[in-house]
Amino acid sequence: MSAYLIDGKAIANTIQDELVVEVQALKETHGLVPGLATVLVGDNVASQTYVRMKRKRCADVGIYSVGHELSKEATQEEVEALVRSLNADPAIHGILVQLPLPRHLDEEAVLSTVALQKDVDGFHPVNIGRLAMKGRDPLFAPATPSGIIELLDRVGAPIEGKQAVVLGRSNIVGLPVSMLLLKRNATITICHSRTQDLPAVTRQADILIAAVGRTEMVKRDWVKPGVVVIDVGINRVDDPEAKRGYRLVGDVAFDEVAEVASWITPVPGGVGPMTIAMLLKNTVTAAKRVAGLL
Ligand code: GUN
Repeated sequence: MSAYLIDGKAIANTIQDELVVEVQALKETHGLVPGLATVLVGDNVASQTYVRMKRKRCADVGIYSVGHELSKEATQEEVEALVRSLNADPAIHGILVQLPLPRHLDEEAVLSTVALQKDVDGFHPVNIGRLAMKGRDPLFAPATPSGIIELLDRVGAPIEGKQAVVLGRSNIVGLPVSMLLLKRNATITICHSRTQDLPAVTRQADILIAAVGRTEMVKRDWVKPGVVVIDVGINRVDDPEAKRGYRLVGDVAFDEVAEVASWITPVPGGVGPMTIAMLLKNTVTAAKRVAGLL
């Protein structure tokens, strides 16, 4: 391997350590305890795990968190009523509605109900709209895309003027990370299932973001030497040797691409830990805004 490893776990820990100090100071100086409410609807096991991890990390840095769980039969009105009550709760500075919601619910209507100033996931249509517009800024940018930018910045990878290729156009990662890269003056190509001759496009990339959920799709001959690779994929592959019977791999064939890249994130331990760190950071920002400190 010739690439340097982008250690997302270490960088996320550094951010968390910085937040511990900041949260402590907010408590001591302003009597302010940042608060995050999580809303989980239904019994999606992966979502339950994510919410548990987010709340545990809140506790680690001194953020107050409260978890709300609704059954998978919850109505649109029940979910929106819960969000409205959290909007009105002064102890809560950030509201996170875990996605995906059960299919009978209108996701956009629920996300539109979250108060803009408490939208720490950055999924409110107004925040996404501002993210997409020139000269405007959202109150919060989504956590995984912000984490990706933070990784690039913390390893000193330049963005301005670079050719960035994003694989995937999801609302949670592909689209918002493209908008963030554009705001930083990269030139963006967004690829998706209808893109023709994908390897020819990805070979143009100075920065390659892979967020499609396809096991080890990006091969060595899909990238040009010196590329910076950010792998957002988290795919399970069967592995009888592993304790759980599976292991996690990304959208990038790590071993072979690491031969030619300049920087690369591992899976796990790359982008994943950054998502929660950025959510916590957004929650502290929300609290500071309420207190007039920003
Ligand atoms: N589902 C997958 N990623 C996310 C995320 O970052 N936030 C929320 N709320 N749901 C998700």
